[in-house]
Amino acid sequence: MEDWVKVCEEKALKDGDMLDFDHGESKILVTRSGGRVYATDRICTHAYADLSTGILNEDENTVTCPLHLSAFKLDSGIPQNLPAEDPLKIYKVKIQENAIYIKLG
Ligand code: FES
Repeated sequence: MEDWVKVCEEKALKDGDMLDFDHGESKILVTRSGGRVYATDRICTHAYADLSTGILNEDENTVTCPLHLSAFKLDSGIPQNLPAEDPLKIYKVKIQENAIYIKLG
């Protein structure tokens, strides 16, 4: 069974916004960049830093870690520069009845 979880109403997330979403043990970062919505893990894969306090770059479609400045692609989770080497986990997103859902599990 697919495990889609509602995050928020679509209008609550504007271009350039970042939103914290916790579900069980999962700490997720939901972003909107260039009109598209993305969801990734929120904790950097290098050390413990919360990416929601980093910088969203809509031109590059990345979020930059506030601690050592690795930038991660929002669509793939892949780091674009060191020191982070491992990708962020990414989650599927859908918009349904004007609400944002992500798929967990
Ligand atoms: S903790 Fe994010 S790059 Fe080091």
